[in-house]
Amino acid sequence: MKVAIPKERRAYEARVATTPDAIKRMKPLGLTFLVEAGAGLTAAIPDQAFVDAGAEIVADTAALLGQADIVLKVARPLTAAEGTDELAAMKPGTVLISQLDPYRNREQVADYAKRNIVAVAMELVPRITRAQSMDVLSSQANLAGYKAVIDAAEQFGRAFPMMMTAAGTIAPAKVMVMGAGVAGLQAIATARRLGAVVSATDVRLAAKEQVESLGATFVFVDDEEARQAETSGGYAKEMSDAYKAKQAALIAETIKKMDVVICTAQIPGRPAPRLVTDAMVASMKPGSIVVDLAVETGGNCEGSEVAKIVVKHGVKIVGYANVPSRLAVDASSLYARNLAEYLKLIVQKDGTLKLDREDEIVKGSLLTQDGQIVHAAFAPAPAAAQ
Ligand code: NAI
Repeated sequence: MKVAIPKERRAYEARVATTPDAIKRMKPLGLTFLVEAGAGLTAAIPDQAFVDAGAEIVADTAALLGQADIVLKVARPLTAAEGTDELAAMKPGTVLISQLDPYRNREQVADYAKRNIVAVAMELVPRITRAQSMDVLSSQANLAGYKAVIDAAEQFGRAFPMMMTAAGTIAPAKVMVMGAGVAGLQAIATARRLGAVVSATDVRLAAKEQVESLGATFVFVDDEEARQAETSGGYAKEMSDAYKAKQAALIAETIKKMDVVICTAQIPGRPAPRLVTDAMVASMKPGSIVVDLAVETGGNCEGSEVAKIVVKHGVKIVGYANVPSRLAVDASSLYARNLAEYLKLIVQKDGTLKLDREDEIVKGSLLTQDGQIVHAAFAPAPAAAQ
């Protein structure tokens, strides 16, 4: 079976879906790897490194995709409306394994089915122990959480650690992290390593122990609703208006004392919760920094803009797009390992492919098969009962 790895063409995307190391790891699977010329360059991987790992370099994109049984990508294919139809060259029955952002691109999910593309959305792999090595949300969010703090430190006109010098003492930076999931916990750890005094908030009570074990203070509205805020999958639910009001009051009180706010709160399949209002930004000291990692799903901070740094009330609101891609080398390396583990699951000993929908991991991540949408969350609504 031939596995194609095209160059990523979306704006702000510097990652590549496989690496020489991952190709070597997949050797026992007996696959042939075809990599588009230059696909790894933005992640510091020259074509020759892929050749040395046993892959073939193909210069022509259409020729590459046209012969593939499996296509590995980082970001969902571009559409005709976006200028290039990246699915056009793929033959019916091709297995496309990528982050597909399906909740925000339902029409594209229907298009995969229509064109008989077998689409696997890696961000839907269930968060079960057996699938930890395939968890792209964790591998990428972890790097984003780290980078968000580094980006904040770069924009901040002050130092993070406390410094006692002959010329006087510099107070440590006060950092608040909104959302203590994978990105938030890494942001806490990174800010602490830089010497900041850190606090964090989340709606899930389970986050309290994790936040505190990293040496940060947990800021939390502790009521009955918060005790039910976690879904069985470990995610946050959207909270009631009454809870949001209590949370906003608590955040408003805390944030005005902060120098840096790192926003990481997300609700899967929904717009990001709005946690920092313009009035809260106005209450912060001039020169403070907000980094909004949720900017692409609507933002946790009012006024944040994708791929921009905006200044409001003297506060810089940083909204870099695709933050994992800003660490393209490490992000590609971990992502490639995640995909290699997924392929190990679906490629059988005889080298053929089996997408077994009885398997919880396949069932959770497979969007389309045999020209149909097969994922329960995206299947068209059944016709009304007669
Ligand atoms: P996420 O990216 O969906 O959200 C980030 C954080 O924002 C979450 O902690 C969420 O609770 C929080 N949040 C949502 N709404 C909020 C609000 N209104 N105010 C404050 N915070 C809010 O979450 P992520 O990072 O993907 O983690 C989700 C869950 O999955 C966690 O429970 C995590 O421990 C769990 N997990 C499990 C893994 C496994 O068992 N294999 C691997 C990775 C994560």
